[in-house]
Order: sequence, then structure tokens, then C-alpha cells
Amino acid sequence: MRRSDPLQPLSRQHHIALVFAKTLRQWGRLAPPPEAAEKRAVAEAAHRFWEVELVPHFRAEEEGLLGRWQRPATDPLATRVLQEHVGIHRVAQRLSRRLRADDLEGAWEETLRLGQCVNAHVRFEERTWLPQLEAELEAELLAEAEAGIGHALDPEAAEAVLPPRPDPERIVEDP
Ligand SMILES: [Fe+2]
Ligand SMILES: [Fe+2]
Repeated sequence: MRRSDPLQPLSRQHHIALVFAKTLRQWGRLAPPPEAAEKRAVAEAAHRFWEVELVPHFRAEEEGLLGRWQRPATDPLATRVLQEHVGIHRVAQRLSRRLRADDLEGAWEETLRLGQCVNAHVRFEERTWLPQLEAELEAELLAEAEAGIGHALDPEAAEAVLPPRPDPERIVEDP
């Protein structure tokens, strides 16, 4: 479904987040498997994407959109958005700790998990949450939210911090 104008920056950023998740999925399916230096570079880039992109993105959704939605904060859709944000923050914090501790295998596991969580979360928002929000949020409030989202989200900046892509010839399978 085509997003309404105020939500288009959000959906463009979702598209980039899906590229992020796909890139990590491909790194998880390489033959030969990634070397230590590659794992470190990808894990550090994934952490940076969270820090630079996902943190402001979640904040814009929470403040700009959930903060204006008429549904109560206890609504199952609203709580699911928030719970998944917290879940992704936890994976990213563990990734950060493992990188600092030089636990490369642990950091790699969290990196691949981050990609899986982001993929599932973005798909849920695009398929379920945003259509409901668009249908229910008053036009005036949606326009008000647009101003805040426009400042917080810059799809070009998001693209610039995507992790490196693996050599396509090493990818075993990409359904
Ligand atoms: Fe979200
Ligand atoms: Fe989102």
C-alpha cells in the first residue's frame, strides 16, 4: 500500500532498514565463512547503523506517532511497537558490550540477531501498524507529526551508514 505523504520518509527509511537486514542475512550465509576482520567490520557497522539510524527512527515513531495516536498506551499494537524497540535496543547493547570485550563470536551472533529483529519489526510496522495508524490518526495530527519526522529522519544519511555488502559470489543462498 502506498503510504500517505507524511509517512513517506518513514517508509523510505524502512526500505533501507530492510536492505540492512538483508545484508546481514547474506553475511550469515557465506562460503567460505567471513574472516575475523570481516566479522569485526560488519559488527561495528551494524552497531553504528543502530546508533545513527535506528535510535532516532524509534524515537520519531514513539514521540511523533505513538505520542499522537488516539489509542491508549496499553493498546496491543502500541505496546508491540514499543516492546520490539526495547528488544532491538537490548540486542544492540549486547553487541556493543561484546565488541568492547573483544568477544568476536558473541558480537557476530548479536549482529545476525539484530538483522533478524529489524527485519521482523519493519515488516510488522509496514503491514500492520502503519496502515492502522494512517486510517485512525486525524489528518491534522498526522501533518503535525510530519514536521517532527522530517527533521529526525534522513533516508540518504541512513543509506550512508549501511554495513559493507559481501562478495555476491560467496553467498550460498538468498531466498
Ligand atoms: Fe519501529
Ligand atoms: Fe519503523
